[in-house]
Amino acid sequence: MRLGKLLLLSALIVTLSNAQDIMQKSMATMEKGMSQIQQGFLNNNIKLIDNGTKLVKKGNKLFSNKEIIEKYLPANKKHMINVAEYTAKRISLDITVLQLNLENKAFLNAANAYSDILNACSRCHSIVRNW
Ligand code: HEC
Repeated sequence: MRLGKLLLLSALIVTLSNAQDIMQKSMATMEKGMSQIQQGFLNNNIKLIDNGTKLVKKGNKLFSNKEIIEKYLPANKKHMINVAEYTAKRISLDITVLQLNLENKAFLNAANAYSDILNACSRCHSIVRNW
């Protein structure tokens, strides 16, 4: 193979593996954040809830772009892209609600927002995994 082709091929591989990384990085960050929020609510540790919420926000930002989400939908689910995109928007809204309630010490409402985030995770996974 000529050098030019080899370079082109390796550039393509790097691009593809980076795309893979975005999903894994996003999901791992959100998973860590959700665990912290749960731990925080169970142990009445507000700092942990706050920190976990920031992690979920960061992870969700990485995986909220329509084109990126669409790449990860199986072929038979591409038509569900709007529903999938909406679950990411829902998480973003829930984060705002959670943070505002936390500031106002309305912890039950904050916990409800956390539950709704968890439901949104499952909603998108149910599409992706053919649940
Ligand atoms: C918009 C769609 C979408 C949303 C919302 C979403 N995920 Fe995912 N998630 C995926 C996709 C796509 C995969 C990879 C395919 C699979 O695991 O079936 C995945 C996989 C995962 C994995 C396994 C990661 C891996 O490397 O295999 C974890 C953990 C995860 N998600 C956590 C979460 C958490 C926590 C939330 C909510 C805060 C969430 N996800 C919300 C689409 C989503």
